[in-house]
Amino acid sequence: MNFPLTRMRRLRQCPEIREMVRETKLNKEDLIYPLFIKEKNGQKEEIKTMPDEYRYSLDDGILFAKELEEKGLKSIIIFGIPNTSSKNELGSPAYDDNGIVQKTIRKLKEETNLVVISDVCLCQYTENGHCGITKGNKVMNDKTLKYLSKIAVSHSKAGVNIVAPSDMMDGRVLAIRESLDSYRFEDVLIMSYSAKYASSFYNPFRDAVSSTPSFGDRKSYQMDPANAHEAIREAELDLVEGADILMVKPALAYLDIIKTLKDNFNLPIATYNVSGEYSMLKAAIEKGYLTEDSIMESLLSIKRAGADLIISHFTKDVLDKL
Ligand code: PBG
Ligand code: ZN
Repeated sequence: MNFPLTRMRRLRQCPEIREMVRETKLNKEDLIYPLFIKEKNGQKEEIKTMPDEYRYSLDDGILFAKELEEKGLKSIIIFGIPNTSSKNELGSPAYDDNGIVQKTIRKLKEETNLVVISDVCLCQYTENGHCGITKGNKVMNDKTLKYLSKIAVSHSKAGVNIVAPSDMMDGRVLAIRESLDSYRFEDVLIMSYSAKYASSFYNPFRDAVSSTPSFGDRKSYQMDPANAHEAIREAELDLVEGADILMVKPALAYLDIIKTLKDNFNLPIATYNVSGEYSMLKAAIEKGYLTEDSIMESLLSIKRAGADLIISHFTKDVLDKL
């Protein structure tokens, strides 16, 4: 049937009908809020490159998490910012049972009902800001696995629900799964950053947590932005190694990858709407080039592409509207 019998606009004629036929809806439980917690006490510090985002002290961070929980937040992912003086070659504050992330996990589990996720990586904790243990200018894959496993176990002892390795070493999901199981943490989930691209959209995050590598870049471990088939191989390996949830990162510039993984795998697909994607919209809104509606539209497009879960700094801005 063609025009005039078929008229697409019949389905769009009023808000009520549009709502009835809407294919994609964003729910509060789809969203995960990334929280930055600094080891240093005192006032929250605004992040220059990320409008309306802060580095919180432990106590203030917990208060903010509770505020968001009251608005319907279900899950949170924690990023720690250790004191600069504690960083070292082996990133040991990352797997210190009294480290800032471990303290935050314990407190969140005591005082909220949030599902707590932790970022598992070394870059905030090593002196040179790389995601693994280095030898000269080389990031050592197999040596790093042991330390990532120690981090995951330490977070699990603190009570974390989900560990999220973001380092992009080969074999980390298997190494972490085996360590967790040997400590009887078989209920802790692994949300793997499966397809994590070497992206310039991470810059504001690195500014926020001081993790810019002091030499070289992350291209020898993170994926080339030009590659899509490779994302399937990465995801297959993580699946076989025991990942529970697969992640694509960043989100907006990689919607095709989200869709590919959703179509090819029967696991929940998460994605990370990263710092640069947040800051670019915030900046445009501040300047009056765009309106706030651009936020919901981009989150919706990420969901439409196939993401089941979305980690986003916009979570705090949109919870009220869902
Ligand atoms: C590092 C890490 C990065 C992000 C989360 N964990 C970036 C990087 O590779 O430097 C990015 C998050 C964001 O930009 O919002 N393991
Ligand atoms: Zn890292």
